[in-house]
Amino acid sequence: MKPIVIGNWKMNITSQEAKVYLGTFLRKLEVLKQAEVTLCPAGPVIPTVAQMLEGTGVAWGSQNAHWEERGAFTGEVSMEILQDLGCRLVLCGHSERRKWFKESDFEISRKVEQALAHNIVPVLCVGETFDERKAQKHEVVVIEQVRKGTERLSNIPALALIVAYEPVWAIGTGQAIEPEQAWEMARLIRSVLREVLPSGAESVPIIYGGSVNEINVASFVDGDAISGVLVGGTSLDPEKFHQLIAQLI
Ligand code: 13P
Repeated sequence: MKPIVIGNWKMNITSQEAKVYLGTFLRKLEVLKQAEVTLCPAGPVIPTVAQMLEGTGVAWGSQNAHWEERGAFTGEVSMEILQDLGCRLVLCGHSERRKWFKESDFEISRKVEQALAHNIVPVLCVGETFDERKAQKHEVVVIEQVRKGTERLSNIPALALIVAYEPVWAIGTGQAIEPEQAWEMARLIRSVLREVLPSGAESVPIIYGGSVNEINVASFVDGDAISGVLVGGTSLDPEKFHQLIAQLI
């Protein structure tokens, strides 16, 4: 299986900047084609990125979406709109959304369900805070997030899901965790998936995120416990992000 690499641009990179970025990033396409690469720009930038990525093998996705089909939800974007834009995946429950927008596990589980209903792969993001890790509660917290985030999946026939383990204390800090710690949590997540999705658990890719860069990336992706990465800061630099992907192939 190709390694999964998702670039989360967060609230950075305008449409104009994306054009310049892709001019550099798409230069060595043969490298990018050996991984499953997806870029997640800010919502209004998706059409520009989609137009430039069409036919390259690099996919695009969204950092978020609402769980309802349509309706009076000012400022929100639906999965149907993302599907219309050709999004391959959508991040559900990123820790920044849990923290700043108070997203609950219930809302996140509905997003996961709604994404699948529109043939978009939900990337369920889970991870403990520093205080939770210090208090040795990281396992309990992550088990709960995986259980609750997947609780509406039993009715979904063609299951496609990715789980991203992103310890909050490693995000944007430049301080990634030890690969062994990430593998340990990935194994724990796999055991919860076996319990909640008995038939599809083995095929759900688990990826790591949190201060991944072109130097440390290869140490996380072992092709067994962890099959890819979710990258923030390093994905903002097209050359470094390209180098990061090259490390995995
Ligand atoms: P950084 O790579 O900047 O730590 O961000 C990780 C992240 O939040 C990706 O979703």
